[in-house]
Amino acid sequence: MTSSSERIEIQGLSRSFSGRAVVSDVSLQVAAGQVMCLLGPSGCGKSTTLRMIAGVETPDQGRILIDGQPVFDAGVNLPPEARGVGLMFQDFALFPHLTVAGNVAFGLVGDKATKLRRVEELLEKVGLSGFGSKHPHELSGGEQQRVALIRALAPKPRVMLMDEPFSGLDNRLRDGIRDATLEVLKAEGAAVLLVTHEPEEAMRMADEIALMRGGQIVQRGAPYNIYNAPVDRAAAAFFSDINVIRGRSTGALTETPFGAFLTPGHLDGGEVDIVIRPQHLKIDFDRAGRGPNPTVSEGSPARGIVQRARYLGHASLVEFRMEFDGSILTASVPGVFLPKPDTVLWLMIRRDRCYVFPAA
Ligand SMILES: Nc1ncnc2c1ncn2[C@@H]1O[C@H](COP(=O)(O)OP(=O)(O)OP(=O)(O)O)[C@@H](O)[C@H]1O
Ligand SMILES: [Mg+2]
Repeated sequence: MTSSSERIEIQGLSRSFSGRAVVSDVSLQVAAGQVMCLLGPSGCGKSTTLRMIAGVETPDQGRILIDGQPVFDAGVNLPPEARGVGLMFQDFALFPHLTVAGNVAFGLVGDKATKLRRVEELLEKVGLSGFGSKHPHELSGGEQQRVALIRALAPKPRVMLMDEPFSGLDNRLRDGIRDATLEVLKAEGAAVLLVTHEPEEAMRMADEIALMRGGQIVQRGAPYNIYNAPVDRAAAAFFSDINVIRGRSTGALTETPFGAFLTPGHLDGGEVDIVIRPQHLKIDFDRAGRGPNPTVSEGSPARGIVQRARYLGHASLVEFRMEFDGSILTASVPGVFLPKPDTVLWLMIRRDRCYVFPAA
């Protein structure tokens, strides 16, 4: 069943603590050269999953194969150092008595000149050239984290397990370090399993995202698919603010103040949530009490009154109180659009950009 390109393969992995299931029947595969992000809210079991693969936590059930070889299975439980994986954990620690260069070179084999070259090359990649002779206590937290990162990358592991490796870095620095890390890992063709609770980080890093919730993987796919075809309302809400319009599906059609939505496959007479991201609400001006004409792709407009508008740099966020029921909807508009509070505007919803789920 295991294909040779799978570097990490886990099957039916489960773990409970004091009778509470923290990881339930998790299966996934990561191929050589692939970055898989395990994404989910705090406490959903991401670190526990990674720790079991690393061998520092013992599963109650399941199998773990690295490079096609069982490292955890019936009668098999290899210690971490025998699993052949590189680790970068949330709570990394540098060796305090070694210099930066000593730390980075720690897992390297070969002659001194080769090691030095590798160390210098990696230090440069993360903006720490010239830091080699310093000791960890002379570095800032973010600098220490970068050293820990390249220490893990240095031996060119075929499998890399990373748990929130960029969490301590400030925003500006983080993007550069992420890109440099990806570059190194891709160049080595490593299989990477990266844990994060930040959707933007997963979208930026991953070839594939495994979305986790309550100890289970609820959806898997490329970032584009996960973002644009969420499996449920919570999966949609994990990636951005969402707007929800509640309706009742009758004969595969749901009537709303924004016109009718096609809702095939939903229980006749059942409540549905029509979910729309802020950037997919369309705003139009009021023309003496009238809005734009209804269209097939956008339905009918509904009137809203601006509550407040904020400028975020790349976009403006406008909050509306809707006339039809007093509910609040939020629209995001590229660039600068800052209508005054109490301005009357009309909102429309692109049919191809909304998701319909059974009411939560
Ligand atoms: N050794 C342990 N003993 C008891 N409970 C544990 C243990 N390790 C983890 N847990 C619990 O299991 C749950 C999942 O923990 P885990 O660290 O896997 O979450 P996470 O998804 O990594 O969250 P975060 O994003 O906050 O790091 C948590 O409720 C945690 O308290
Ligand atoms: Mg964690």
